[in-house]
Amino acid sequence: MDKLDQLVQQAATEFAAAADGVQLEQVKARYLGKTGALTERLKGLGKLAAEERRVAGAEINRAKDAIEAALEARRQALREAVLVAQLAAEALDVTLPGRGVAQGGLHPVSRTLERIEALFRSIGFVVADGPEIETDWHNFTALNTPENHPARSMHDTFYLEGHEDVLLRTHTSPVQIRTMLDHVARYGDRESMPEIRVIVPGRVYRVDSDATHSPMFHQVEGLWVGESVSFADLKGVIADFLRKFFETEDLQVRFRPSFFPFTEPSAEIDVAFMSGALKGRWLEIAGCGMVHPNVLRFGGIDPERYTGFAFGMGPDRLTMLRYGVNDLRLFFEGDLRFLSQFR
Ligand code: DAH
Repeated sequence: MDKLDQLVQQAATEFAAAADGVQLEQVKARYLGKTGALTERLKGLGKLAAEERRVAGAEINRAKDAIEAALEARRQALREAVLVAQLAAEALDVTLPGRGVAQGGLHPVSRTLERIEALFRSIGFVVADGPEIETDWHNFTALNTPENHPARSMHDTFYLEGHEDVLLRTHTSPVQIRTMLDHVARYGDRESMPEIRVIVPGRVYRVDSDATHSPMFHQVEGLWVGESVSFADLKGVIADFLRKFFETEDLQVRFRPSFFPFTEPSAEIDVAFMSGALKGRWLEIAGCGMVHPNVLRFGGIDPERYTGFAFGMGPDRLTMLRYGVNDLRLFFEGDLRFLSQFR
């Protein structure tokens, strides 16, 4: 029986030495397989006398149970080792900070445009638009700027090759004309026309490029036409808008006499902040004036009965002031390091 105990010992030792499942099954075959050590012994029982066979058989079965138990224990240990190794290899540190989902955001100028639209909507303006490829007539002539008028040289215009009468609009003012013509077509036969109150945010183009000029930039045109619209209304609307836009009462607004062919009288609008980095400096942000009678006429509107004011402001400039950006070109280079700061 000592020999059987030894065999059990030996099997357990060899099982323990098996490095993986395949090796373990090979060791198992040496003991429990068809020609395994234990199987051979069981076969040998037949040669024994009945009484001896019963005792020896029980001993062998006991050894067999012990070997099987050792085998199963080793199998289990190997399975666990595989699992532990796998867990270590695929470890996930749930305490690491997440990578986050990269979210897009509105362009800073788009934010400004949305802001301007919301503020003007709140006082009854609607948003209008017109084509960026415009006719010479809408862009200049109908705005009281006839051919050879010196004011045309104020704009360095992109013309379209082979189309003398077509250009990239140099300002959003032609939409004044389009809006008036549309309005008259719709309401002109009424005893009394409803007022026109529109703003026109859009892209405009000029041959110009430096730190404060880009060949493409934005404007927001405004137009209010009615039966008794005055310069006082213009001043009130603009001053109110600017204080709301910059979210401060600490703001001075100045109307400086100027010239535009399409307004009379005309003014330039300057603002000065009373605190902050730009304190005390006058900054030009828009042109404005009372719509010239000729412009009303080109729009199909009777200047004897209706008056209006108009303005054109630079939202790019407003964006620079609001966020403290000093180079206009940054807005249009598409550099994410710059743009993502506005998310
Ligand atoms: N269109 C002018 C420009 O681009 C700006 C402007 C000035 C628009 C006066 C207006 C206005 O409507 O009344 O320089």
